Amino acid sequence: MRIAVCPGSFDPVTKGHLDIVTRASKLFDRVIVLVVINAAKTPSFTPEERVRMIREVIGDSLPNVEVDTFSGLLADYVRDAGAVAIVKGLRAVSDFEYEFQMALANKKLNPLADTVFLTTASQNMYLSSSLVKQIAQFGGDISDFLPPQIVDKVAGRLCSQR
Ligand code: PNS
Repeated sequence: MRIAVCPGSFDPVTKGHLDIVTRASKLFDRVIVLVVINAAKTPSFTPEERVRMIREVIGDSLPNVEVDTFSGLLADYVRDAGAVAIVKGLRAVSDFEYEFQMALANKKLNPLADTVFLTTASQNMYLSSSLVKQIAQFGGDISDFLPPQIVDKVAGRLCSQR
């Protein structure tokens, strides 16, 4: 059983995230989408809301994917889960330096797991949760960027925060 962890803030989950998770589910026997709680960030959605949105979006479509939430060192979660890989999406060269540093640190902390980078699909190259949130805050159309199940929830929450 080859287990992979797809970590992130998922605040909220985007079509870019969903693409990476879907492709990871084809490469590994079991995939854990991990909503990581980062005390340094002020999220728009609680961890429970983020988990719920991811579960709603995945539905029954990816039977080998589960969703969890965690606060702490990713390397520790990965070790405890018995995972062999951390899967991340790489959008552009600008992502690389940060992701490279994280991959090396995670390898040092847990030599049993490797970070696997999947190239983001070209239509998602510029997509990020923070970009989507900015557009939503000003009443812009976010339906191209988010899975349809959560568009209204995200638009409603962020519009009302203006
Ligand atoms: O979606 P994000 O915010 O870019 O995801 C970043 C995340 C959650 C993957 C990263 O911040 C993380 O792994 N946090 C957990 C704490 C940790 O292990 N930090 C790295 C030490 S090498």
